[in-house]
Order: sequence, then structure tokens, then C-alpha cells
Amino acid sequence: ENGGGRAGSIKYQLAKLVEVSLRAVFPEESNVQPLIAVCTAKFGDYQCNNAMGIFSKIKGKSAEFKNPNSVGQAIARNLPYSDMIESTSVAGPGFVNIVLSNKWVAQNIQNMLSNGIGAWAPILSVEKAVVDFSSPNIAKEMHVGHLRSTIVGDTISRMLEFSGVEVLRRNHVGDWGTQFGMLIEHLFDNFPDWEDVGGQAIGDLQELYKASKRRFDDDPSFMERAQHAVVRLQGGEARYHNAWQRICEISRREFDIIYQHLDVYLEEKGESFYNPYIPNVLEELTRKGLIEESKGCPMDQKYQEFLCCLNDLLLLSRYRLNIEKAEWIIYVTDVGQAQHFDMVFSAAKASWLASDVNSGLYPRTNHVGLEFLDEAKSRSKAELVKRLGDNGKLKEWTDEELEKTAEAVGYGAVKYADLKNNRLTNYTFSFDQMLNDKGNTAVYLLYAHARICSIIRKSGKDIEDMKNSGTVVLDHADERILGLHLIQFAEIVEEACTNLLPSVLCEYLYNLSEIFTRFYTSCQVLGSAEETSRLLLCEATAVVMRKCFHLWELLPFTNY
Ligand code: ARG
Repeated sequence: ENGGGRAGSIKYQLAKLVEVSLRAVFPEESNVQPLIAVCTAKFGDYQCNNAMGIFSKIKGKSAEFKNPNSVGQAIARNLPYSDMIESTSVAGPGFVNIVLSNKWVAQNIQNMLSNGIGAWAPILSVEKAVVDFSSPNIAKEMHVGHLRSTIVGDTISRMLEFSGVEVLRRNHVGDWGTQFGMLIEHLFDNFPDWEDVGGQAIGDLQELYKASKRRFDDDPSFMERAQHAVVRLQGGEARYHNAWQRICEISRREFDIIYQHLDVYLEEKGESFYNPYIPNVLEELTRKGLIEESKGCPMDQKYQEFLCCLNDLLLLSRYRLNIEKAEWIIYVTDVGQAQHFDMVFSAAKASWLASDVNSGLYPRTNHVGLEFLDEAKSRSKAELVKRLGDNGKLKEWTDEELEKTAEAVGYGAVKYADLKNNRLTNYTFSFDQMLNDKGNTAVYLLYAHARICSIIRKSGKDIEDMKNSGTVVLDHADERILGLHLIQFAEIVEEACTNLLPSVLCEYLYNLSEIFTRFYTSCQVLGSAEETSRLLLCEATAVVMRKCFHLWELLPFTNY
């Protein structure tokens, strides 16, 4: 239904089967949705948890069902035939345990190998989403909160895109507001040649910001000029508008350097973009009696907060919902924005925007973006040079190779550290921890992947050829554990998307590499009777790893 021959996650496929059974046995309970979970006990791979809930609804109304267990029995009995399922059993208060067929799991893996990892993309319930991320402020520095938002937002976008969702990647740059009054006046006073292309004359924007802020605070006449400048800018006066654009351009160039480093794509639609929509919305709100004419002065702090909130609430939501027709709007921002979004979201709930609102904000530490990335890179280069030196292999590497590898490992480490840390817990960056080759780090995972590739290489076999001619079998217990973990990829991506937790995917991949190690320890690959099947399992593991690296934009997997 979503094209591409995707069957959806295991949970999704089982839910469809359970749904058929539920509708047949309990036609009156048409609101009940299938509840499928990974089995917690060893009686099965998955379980259906609907029985207790249904029993509490039909209790007393039916002579047939005396207890939850009998409900579970009926659900199990009425499951339509599927080659997915090997067997079912009903435990305790009606849990239906489902054992997947070994053969089906193996075929599923083979299918992915011949059709590509897209076969394991989950099927989500939305088709179009806005992801609002990065969103730094003009003339201010991009702090690590923005860096984090850039990394996390990009991965969320990629996961959604992989799942077939159309994603509008939006950089909601802070390019509007009263600070431009003082910036512009200061620019006029101190940089008479500000209109020159190249912009070298202006140089460091943050300095400009600081200097103009100092004047604004100390000099009442400058403050007054700055306030008038805001009005003239908002009125569209050309000289002011040009100066504003000039300032934005310089900032934009600085931001772009970071985006290029991280290989992140975003479309800028800053605060100012939504300006033309303000009058209509204000008018509509006033007509509906939802707001009163403000008596405050436009420079008032409260009034500015109100405007900012209004901008986000009405314009973004209306623009994004009504014009862009996004079904899901995701804001990736740091905890500094907590109050703002609290206000926006509670107002959204109170007004016509009755959609679901969830929030979870990212904590912030105070490193600055680019230097931080550079530091990670130079540390990883030093380590690389040291190790290669110890092995006597340094001579075999060109400078360019060294640079590229250091960049991949260094940037990867920063990205991964950001992604693996669940947004609900605070943390601090540690270079040593992040660049460690043991434990749950990018370095470890990249290494694990390289090791698998080298196993395949050593076999001397053409793996592409084997994908079509070979057969996967999962006879050994550790083969089956690996196989089952592999085919759970789709539901993990699904969970990471719906809960906006990229960390779930990090955990999954870390577990995969451990499960792989166990498999590799107990099952001989090269030279064994099962070599073909086992090499295919190696390859499937490597494919899943590469896809995760791609979703995390770890260089050089950005175009995988
Ligand atoms: N510019 C804000 C900041 O620097 C983030 C904006 C987030 N997005 C939004 N639609 N308000 O923290």
C-alpha cells in the first residue's frame, strides 16, 4: 500500500493478523487495536496482549468467555493462516505467545539481501512531516544546543525519509526581532562601506552584536535610534531592509560551513518568512474574539514574547498545517526553549489546534560548534597516527586518507554521542569516552563493521552473487537470535521515529554488534559446511550497520 514492496515491521504484520482475528471474534469491539510486543518470556518471539483488556469490556456480557485466558485462546484460534507463524500458545491471563517460523525469518533476510534494505523500511501512519531543526539565530553564535539539534534533527529526518515520509526540513533561523534595530544602527555608524560585496569589512558578527548591545544598554540616544530602526525595518524601508539582509547573509555563510562539515541539508525558512501571514491571522483571531488589542508598547519585553509565541503558534502551525499540509510537525530544539514552547503548545491546545502535543527537549552544554568538531577530528587523527606508527603502517597512508579517516571518525564520534544519549537524560561530552574504541561508541561500531567486511573479503566469494543464489538457514540457536534481531530493524526504526528517540536505534545497533560477536564465536563461518548461509548473515549484519551509519550521517556513509 505504501509502494516498494514493503511489508512493514514484524509488529505491523502481526498486528494485521491479530486484527483479523479480533474483528471475527469480537465484532462489537471494533475500536480495539491489536497490542503486539516483543515476548518477555521464552515462550515465543512476540506476544499479543489484548485478552485482558477485551475481557474487562465483555465481562458478564458473554457466556462463552469466563476469563481472560479463554479470550486469548479465541484470539489464537482465529488467527488467519500465515507462513510467518510457526506456533502459538496461550499463557496465564490470555497472553498469546507467537513463535515465528525459522524458514520465514530466513526468507525475510534473503529478501532484504536481494531487494535492498528498503524492504525493511517501516510503514508509518503519516505521509508528510515538517522537521524544524538547527534554527540558530542571526548574529549570535551557534552553540552546542544548535549543533545537537542539527545532528538529531537530521537523523530524525533521514529516518522518516527512509520510511517513505515526505520531510520538509526547515531551518527556522532567528532572523527577525528587535535586536536588528541596534545591529543596523551600529552597522551604519561603524561600517560606512557595509554595502560592499564580500562583507569583509564587517568581519565578526558576534563582535558586532556585542558592541551594539553595549551601546544599546549604555547610551539612551542610541537605544532610541535602535528602536526607530526596528520600526523602519518592519515598515520595509529599503536601506534598513538591505542592511538586515546583509547581516543575515554573513551569518548564513557561517552556518553553512557547519552544515557542509556535517553534510546536512536544510531549507531555510526563518522567522521573517512568516511575516506576510501575520495580518491575516491577527485579523482572524480578533474576529473570533481570541485576542484583544494590545495596549503595550511594541518594544515592551512582554509584547515581544507575545509576538514570538504568536509567530510560532499561529503562523507556523497554520502555515505548516494548512498550506504545507504536514500531518506531523516536529521541533528539535534545546532546553533553552522550554518556556517558549510550553507557552506555544498550551496555547495551541487551547485554541483551534487540538492536535496532539508532546514535548521533550534536549539538554545543552556550552561548547561551540565548529571548534568542537575540529577538536574531535584532531584528536582522532593523533590517535590514528599513533596506532599506524606503532604498526609501522603510517607510510602506507596518504595525507588525504589520514584527513578523511580522522574526519569520519571524529565527526562520527560527536554525532553518535549526541544521538545515543537519550534526550530525557542530561549528559556531558567527554572526548575520551566518545573516541573510545570499546563500549557504545561510533568508533567501536565502525570497527565492528570493518571486521565483518573483512570476514566476507577473506572468504574470496562474490557476495553479490551469493545474495541471489545462496540460502539462509538458521539452525543454530545463535544464528536464529541474530536473524531475529536483524529482522526487527523495521520496528526499531519505527519506534525511533514515533518516539523521536534516535537513541533507540543506537542501542539496537550496539546490541546487534554484540549478538553478532556471539554468533561469530559459536558458529564457524569460513570453511564450514554452512559457509554460504553464514556469510549471508554477515552481509545482512553489515548492510543493517551501513544503513544505520547512513541514517546517522556518519561519513563516508552519507550517500549509502
Ligand atoms: N532560534 C531558536 C533558538 O535559537 C530555535 C527556534 C526553534 N524553532 C522554532 N520554531 N521556534 O533557540
